[in-house]
Amino acid sequence: MAFPPRFLEDLRSRVSLAAVVGRRVKLVRKGREHHGLCPFHNEKTPSFTVNEDKGFYHCFGCGAHGDAIGFAMRAGHLSFTEAVETLAAEAGLDVPVASPEERRQEARRASLHDAMEAACAFFERELRGAAGREGLAYFRRRGVSDETIARFRLGWAPDGREALKSALMSETLPETLLVEAGLLKKPDGGGPAFDMFRGRVTFPITDRRGRVIAFGARTLGDGQPKYLNSPDTPLFHKGATLYGLAHARDRARERGVALAVEGYMDVIALHQAGFGYAVAPLGTALTVEQIEELWRLADEPVLCFDGDAAGQRAMARAAERGLPILKPGKSLRFAVLPHPEDPDSLIKSRGAQAMQAVLDAARPLVDVVWELASAGRALDTPERRALLEKELKDRAFGIADDTVKWQYWTAFREKLRAGLRPARAGSPRWPMRKGAAPASALRGPDGKLPGVAKPVPPMGGAVRQERFLLALLIEHPTLIETAAERLGETGFSDSELDNLRRGILKHLDMAHALDSDALCAHLRSDGFSRVLDSLLDANEYKIARPDAVSDAKVLWEHIFTLYTRKELQADAGSAAEAFARDPSEANSDYLAAVLISRARGVDIDDEPGVPGAPGS
Ligand code: UTP
Ligand code: MN
Repeated sequence: MAFPPRFLEDLRSRVSLAAVVGRRVKLVRKGREHHGLCPFHNEKTPSFTVNEDKGFYHCFGCGAHGDAIGFAMRAGHLSFTEAVETLAAEAGLDVPVASPEERRQEARRASLHDAMEAACAFFERELRGAAGREGLAYFRRRGVSDETIARFRLGWAPDGREALKSALMSETLPETLLVEAGLLKKPDGGGPAFDMFRGRVTFPITDRRGRVIAFGARTLGDGQPKYLNSPDTPLFHKGATLYGLAHARDRARERGVALAVEGYMDVIALHQAGFGYAVAPLGTALTVEQIEELWRLADEPVLCFDGDAAGQRAMARAAERGLPILKPGKSLRFAVLPHPEDPDSLIKSRGAQAMQAVLDAARPLVDVVWELASAGRALDTPERRALLEKELKDRAFGIADDTVKWQYWTAFREKLRAGLRPARAGSPRWPMRKGAAPASALRGPDGKLPGVAKPVPPMGGAVRQERFLLALLIEHPTLIETAAERLGETGFSDSELDNLRRGILKHLDMAHALDSDALCAHLRSDGFSRVLDSLLDANEYKIARPDAVSDAKVLWEHIFTLYTRKELQADAGSAAEAFARDPSEANSDYLAAVLISRARGVDIDDEPGVPGAPGS
């Protein structure tokens, strides 16, 4: 009978393995282990060890290995039930008694297992026989090796109404049992039951231990449905099962990697190509149960999705499912396949390395959730930013585990602050100033964004302006919050100053809370001492240096406007040139964008209106 897992755990923790073994083997204690002569093979020097902490015995001579129950079974020649009952009696534990109903169900399950196993063996045989020629050719055409066919027990369901039925039905496997197992189907209008799977290749679906509990069956042609799956039965719960799990278990644990893909053939192709830790749900989105099953294999299983819109939706759904049930150390990673490939086709067309590259590029859940929430959103007003913040907060606070919850909320807040600066050149998440042309229009003919990727060539006064802009920020870190967006978009022409610009942006999330000394300390520890000293000691700065923050702000704005106007003028020249050379739509858009941006600045005097400020 099946003992409740709780009871077995209790039993294992109550019995002393050393005591159980010690009754048959003379043990000598050595540190945390006991040693002795192995009772399962003949030996003169002890190679048998007992680890009480881990609850396992192991023989380095013959490889015998197991726990207290296993030892009692093997040494006493007992069945599992007998061993459990013996140990429980010794430990003074009451063995839970199965009710007659439980015993009946247990017997029924055993019969269902028999039926599934018989069906699997039948389909396997058929694949190798005359009837299965077409099926075997199909697998070969798809690159499935004979070894893989045997390992995954692939088969063929013959194309008749009663092929399986007449082969299997017997006194021990009656029709009602085969119907309950989902192997036969009763017609809705009554009449004799007929084979569920006909004229299809079969993929047995097993439980964790490798016992067949269901089938997936694929048509060879374009018939519908492409895959027919067993209905849920007392053995098979679709949402709690992963295809390939029994095969993937050891490899996944050994490597600490688990991979979830979409289809049967993907799992098979992956295993064949050396990714023996791949599994798949059964045609549905991953369930909570399946995610928890994946966590038994690895701490951070990789979920692999198609590179199309449907794949994006599936990814969002999986992220949504996984987030609330995260636990410390347990997360998910997300890999996206190049469209239109699936793992099977990718491995075929570009090899295992291409698949490995996809897996290596997998991103953590926190990034995916952030991106799903923030992608394509205008965040140019406090209200819009607040809405995003609120949504992220709701997500973080939906996490059941308190520790993970706070870590997520902290991570999101950091991302919200860091979102002020473009994440990558060429794809600024943070939109341009209000009224500015969209980023795509501002992209130059070389595909790069002006300002970010293409520093203006040094011109008279430009470097001095850069120095002044940075010095003001360092002396008045509170300015950084309003300046950050523009600073992030604008590459400086002087490389040393541009490094410092980026160095300051790195401290963005806390800069507005820092005073000048603290910010300088951070920057010095980042290696900017020399340039800091040269900036702050420079006479040109000392003379013009404003004391009040409000003055500093006005000055900063003036200098920046002046500075970018020069940059735009330079851009306008090159944009016009590019357009003259190649009057493409992209170049025309680029020129228009530069001219529009420039028009916003033309009414500002060439000389800054603040006395003493450096001009050109
Ligand atoms: P796909 O349609 O992506 O097919 O279904 P596939 O896995 O690439 O199959 P091949 O390569 O054409 O043989 C993905 C998974 O969705 C489920 C199956 O589990 C399948 O592996 N599915 C699909 C069904 O259950 N029924 C269907 O009709 C189709
Ligand atoms: Mn496929």
